[in-house]
Amino acid sequence: MQIKSAQFAISSTSYDKCPKANLPEYAFIGRSNVGKSSLINMITGVKKLAKTSTTPGKTQLINHFIINESWYLADLPGFGYAKISKETRAKWGKMINGYLLKRETLLNTFMLIDSRIEPQRSDLEFMEWMGTNEIPFVIVFTKTDKLKRGELAENLECYKKKLNESWEELPLIILSSSSTKTGREEILNFIEETNALFEVNKD
Ligand code: GTP
Ligand code: MG
Repeated sequence: MQIKSAQFAISSTSYDKCPKANLPEYAFIGRSNVGKSSLINMITGVKKLAKTSTTPGKTQLINHFIINESWYLADLPGFGYAKISKETRAKWGKMINGYLLKRETLLNTFMLIDSRIEPQRSDLEFMEWMGTNEIPFVIVFTKTDKLKRGELAENLECYKKKLNESWEELPLIILSSSSTKTGREEILNFIEETNALFEVNKD
């Protein structure tokens, strides 16, 4: 799929303030600093569309971007960031969970995981929560450019083994790098196919 246009739409503090739910939508979720905003920029090919930072906790609201005037990407705040206050963390948690549970047009959530680190309890629990609540998701391993091929393969195997402990069937797993554009085609193809299903099921 070609990206013809990508624009910022709106920042919202909760799901009920988001744009009218009439287009297919995809959200990016994951721990702070995992690379959600960078991935949105990489996929759309618009460098500063979503604001990124070397410091975790940059994205603080639900940010909608409209792509090709026909579907939305939503950038979300990160979870598991230790340096924010308990109150803020609770607020962000509520905002994210409410959005994921209530957003009718959310077709898929890209669950981002840093390919360099071992499986984190918060990530595993979050995926289980999505599973329980029937929120469809795809796993995207980020920052693969920072690993040697062998290390990446090893980490991937380790992660799959961990997932196999609690999942009967593994979700789709995509390897990505915002630096080398790895994973771009795969993510865009997935979105294109899912958009087509939305068209079919609309009426
Ligand atoms: P929050 O909004 O704080 O939750 O973070 P985020 O998940 O949106 O992360 P963001 O995209 O802001 O990226 C965090 C840092 O990681 C930035 O310094 C990025 O340049 C860097 N980064 C993101 N993706 C990649 C990648 O694929 N490769 C490399 N080498 N660095 C990356
Ligand atoms: Mg961000």
